[in-house]
Amino acid sequence: MKYGFFDDKHKEYVIDKVNTPAPWTNYIGVNDMCAVLSQTAGGYVFYKSPQYHRITRFRPNAPIERPGHYVYLRDDDTGEYWSISWQPVAKDLKKAKYECRHGLSYSKFSCDYQNIGAQQTVFIPLNEPVELWDVKLKNKGNTPRRLSVYSYLEFSFHHIDMDNQNFQMSLYASGSSYEDGIIENDLYYEEQGYQWFTSNFQPDGFDCLRDSFLGTYRDESNPIAVETGKCSGSFEKTGNHCAALQKKVILQPDEEIRLAFMLGEGKRSAAVPVRKKYSNPANIDQAFAALADFWSEKLSKLQVNTPNQGMNTSLNIWNLYQSEVNIMFSRFASFIEVGGRTGLGYRDTSQDAMTIPHSNPVKCRKRIIELLRGLTKEGYGLHLFQPEWFDPELQGKQQTFKSPTVVPTPSRSDMIHGIKDACSDDALWLIAAISEYIKETAEFSLLDEVVTYADGGEDTVYQHMMHILDFSDRQVGSTGICKGLRADWNDCLNLGGGESAMVSFLHYWAIQHFLALSRFAGKNEEVKKYEAMAAKVKKACNDNLWDGEWYIRGITASGRKIGTHMDEEGKVHMESNTWAVFSGVADPDRAMKAMDSVDKYLYTQYGLMLNAPSYTKNDDEIGFVTRVYPGVKENGSIFSHPNPWAWCAEATLGRGDRAMKFYDALLPYNQNDKIEVREAEPYAYCQFVMGKDHTAFGRARHPFMTGSGGWAYFAATRYMLGVRPDFDSLVIDPCIPKDWSDFDVTRVWRGADYHIHVVNPDHVSKGVKTIELDGQKISGNVPAQVAGTQHEVQVVMG
Ligand code: NOJ
Repeated sequence: MKYGFFDDKHKEYVIDKVNTPAPWTNYIGVNDMCAVLSQTAGGYVFYKSPQYHRITRFRPNAPIERPGHYVYLRDDDTGEYWSISWQPVAKDLKKAKYECRHGLSYSKFSCDYQNIGAQQTVFIPLNEPVELWDVKLKNKGNTPRRLSVYSYLEFSFHHIDMDNQNFQMSLYASGSSYEDGIIENDLYYEEQGYQWFTSNFQPDGFDCLRDSFLGTYRDESNPIAVETGKCSGSFEKTGNHCAALQKKVILQPDEEIRLAFMLGEGKRSAAVPVRKKYSNPANIDQAFAALADFWSEKLSKLQVNTPNQGMNTSLNIWNLYQSEVNIMFSRFASFIEVGGRTGLGYRDTSQDAMTIPHSNPVKCRKRIIELLRGLTKEGYGLHLFQPEWFDPELQGKQQTFKSPTVVPTPSRSDMIHGIKDACSDDALWLIAAISEYIKETAEFSLLDEVVTYADGGEDTVYQHMMHILDFSDRQVGSTGICKGLRADWNDCLNLGGGESAMVSFLHYWAIQHFLALSRFAGKNEEVKKYEAMAAKVKKACNDNLWDGEWYIRGITASGRKIGTHMDEEGKVHMESNTWAVFSGVADPDRAMKAMDSVDKYLYTQYGLMLNAPSYTKNDDEIGFVTRVYPGVKENGSIFSHPNPWAWCAEATLGRGDRAMKFYDALLPYNQNDKIEVREAEPYAYCQFVMGKDHTAFGRARHPFMTGSGGWAYFAATRYMLGVRPDFDSLVIDPCIPKDWSDFDVTRVWRGADYHIHVVNPDHVSKGVKTIELDGQKISGNVPAQVAGTQHEVQVVMG
């Protein structure tokens, strides 16, 4: 069953059946202000922090995602009312036609009902913290219509805790007022705690108090002010606040009007110039066009044309978009992660920063520096931290919310956790992120930049990298395999002093990144030292982790192997096998066998399961994973994030058909007509899909905020299509299905354009016979060309 379709021309996903089985979200905004809105306009907006600078209210984990950013319409002759988005009024879908178009950083809600065509486009201009609602109404009938139009949103008490607890304080800490068409929301305890809401018209009515607008024993589906056609002009110091502005309009047959609503940061006075600006529709159009240009520019850095339409739509639009959303807003603002836990997760942010330096080098660099500052001298990363804590420009002043209720400010020692809370993988990812950033930008000087450590002292970036590798070198168990510590990539595998196969493979991979960089930079001493370290790691892995048909997952603190042929549950694991291969630790024979086992034991039509069979018996030596229901999350679900590791592994083995089989299984696009199973949006990867051992096999959960976004993009573009930058050249090394005859990639790299056309006359999966650059045969990779130039690259596989 479908609920919508991809409109690639407009770079939109169109939801024409708006009663989707779960909220289908979008992210509005690209800088400091961000709204997370569903296909029915439910959701919230925040400024910089979803934790302590929320602007509108959200009731998490409720049966319907509410409240939202709504526009109501009322026929003032009949009294009938509805909303432009299907919720909150929820008109009968047989009588009213609803649609939502989720685009890149905007959403358009539209409704056709009783001859009134209505549209509400929500977006945030590029560099202004203002949420705009561009509302268009058209009388499609042949009689004049008298309508009332109402805006509605509920203001937050700024902090997620204030919104959800201790109301003896929250309710008395904010006030609202109305003057000259502008509503001001005042967080009285906060010096800068103001927001405003206004419109491009002089309102005929308003309400600033939620309960006056909604009425008692009512909710957003039937507000008294809309039902009666009259706002009450409410405002007050204290209470729950909203922004309801009413406008009465008369629409002649065929007449179309445009109204604008605006929500912004600051006092009422800040609203005045913005209101003036956006009262001119040309300025709204211009801001919208600038946003579209912003995205076109990003997307243009890498476009593909392959025989796989789903892959094209994903890589050209949605997959990059998801990866960008993650790097822009980190991982803590969604309907699942509702903003109460914020900051940077060390491992997630490192991986996000690794994946898209071509489209967002500025933010990737910023994240890399923030992460380097969150590293301890010992060499482990702080698992979750606020980047402001270690920003020298803020000199320790935290930019966080000061609650009127005493919430202790963490002291420096509280911010820096000890090794018992360190995760064994966290900082290893950063090595690859730095190396990919340099490959993309050629900014080798980054290595010499001096950056502080979280626990004092400073070093160059290069030194930080060595500290990370040395930490993993020290933190090994009796077999020489890295200890699992609090957790490795898998939050639920809590091995402590036991050993993690995956982390040793990851360590080896990180060392390879570091070595390539060091060799290129001519740092011979380090090359020698880390080559020896790599050899030691490889030997320890191959001596201790091979089980005959696949690699084991680890060894418990008491010395029991996890993931062997003897195990009835948790027999085969994805993380260790994909990393054994992708890291280069496994020799070809073992590598093939390991990935064949992944295919045999873990493959499903919706992607690869993390482990199989799922655990059913609690085993605290292995960890929390054994206390997760079978088929769910880390216990045997199709955990999306590691799936692209398998594509990379198969691509390095040259098995393009297998890589594409795995790719296609997970690709949300391919589940567009299976929404009765998937439930979640088909334009975003989800954190996980229920595995075979669960009754809801195939149901996807937790969209957008997942490492699968960045990794899917990284794996597909760099390892399947095989176009990836090196330090001084562009590598073209595809691994594709044999039946592909050709494909194209256009790539901007260091300011030069490369139009790469790959042909596959012999129908192979891997292997490049010839490369021509602008008509001249070259041997090896494509050397970096001068910025501003354009180049044709012809590649013949065979
Ligand atoms: C989600 C977490 O954000 C991520 O850090 C972790 O790697 C995965 N869960 C797997 O446990």
